[in-house]
Amino acid sequence: MAQKVRTAVFPVAGRGTRFLPATKAMPKEMLPVVDKPLVQYAVEEALEAGVNRLVFVTGSSKRAIEDHFDRDPELERALEQSGKNDLLDLVRAILPAGVSCVYIRQGEPLGLGHAVLCARPAVGDEPFYVHLPDDLIRCTEQGCLAQLGAYHAEHGGSVLAVQEVPRSRTRDYGIVALAEGGTAISRIVEKPLPEEAPSNLAVVGRYLLTPEIFDLLEHIGQGAGGEIQLTDGIAQLLERQPVHALAFRGRRYDCGSKLGYIQATLDYAMADEALAEPLKVHLRGLL
Ligand code: G1P
Repeated sequence: MAQKVRTAVFPVAGRGTRFLPATKAMPKEMLPVVDKPLVQYAVEEALEAGVNRLVFVTGSSKRAIEDHFDRDPELERALEQSGKNDLLDLVRAILPAGVSCVYIRQGEPLGLGHAVLCARPAVGDEPFYVHLPDDLIRCTEQGCLAQLGAYHAEHGGSVLAVQEVPRSRTRDYGIVALAEGGTAISRIVEKPLPEEAPSNLAVVGRYLLTPEIFDLLEHIGQGAGGEIQLTDGIAQLLERQPVHALAFRGRRYDCGSKLGYIQATLDYAMADEALAEPLKVHLRGLL
C-alpha cells in the first residue's frame, strides 16, 4: 500500500522581481488575494491533503512568512479585549494545533531542484508534496494536492499535476510526454522551445514525489537557465519508477504574473458574497 504523505515542501526563496517594487521588502508569497496571502492558500491546500509538517525553503527577506505562521499573543489579546471574536478565530486558525513548521534557508538561488534538495533533512525517507505558492489552484471539490494524494494512494509512484497550455507557451514550463494510452510520463523537458516540445502538457506547481528523487538531485548538474532543475531530477526518476501525470480538476492562476494575479483576485472576490455585487457594479461601469 502507498505510504501516507505527511510533509509538504514550499520553495519560497525566489525574489519575485516581477512584482517590484511591491516585493522589495515583502515576500511575493505574502501578496494577498482578497484577504489571504498566497502562502496561506498554499498551506490550507496542504492541510486539506492531510499533511502535518510544513517545510518552507526560504531566503533573505522572507521573515514575514515565519511571522505569519507564528502565534501573535499581543494581537490575539487586543482582538479578545475588543470583542472581535471572528477575527480572533481567523488569526488562530492560520495554523491548527498539531502542525509543525520547519524553515530551511536555501542560501544561494541555485534552482528549484536545489531548493527541494535543501528540504531533504526535514522530509526524510518518505513521499512528500512540493507546492509552488505562485500557482494558485482553485478547486470546487477536492484541492489539487489532495487529488495527487488520492492518485498516489491508488497507484503508488510519483504524481505531477499537469494541464494543457498553448504551444507558444512551452518555454515557461516543464513539458511532459505520456506513454501511449496511459498516465505514465515517458519524457519530461524543462522549458523547451515550441518546436522541440514533446507535447503541450505542462507541469504546474504541484508534485507528489518519492524520496528517491533526493539522490538524483544530489548528482544532477546545471540545466536550463544554468539552474539545478527539479525537472531534470524527475527525468531520471521516471527511468527508475513510475511517474504519473494527473490532469487535475480545478482552475490555475499564474500569480507569478501580474495578469494571473489580477484574474485570481477578481475570481476570488466574485466568489465572496459580500464583494460580488458591488464588484459587478464597478466592473460594468468600467467596461
Ligand atoms: C517551475 C518549474 C517548471 C514548472 C513551473 C510551474 O518553473 O521549473 O517545470 O512547469 O514551475 O509553475 P518556474 O515557473 O519557477 O520558472
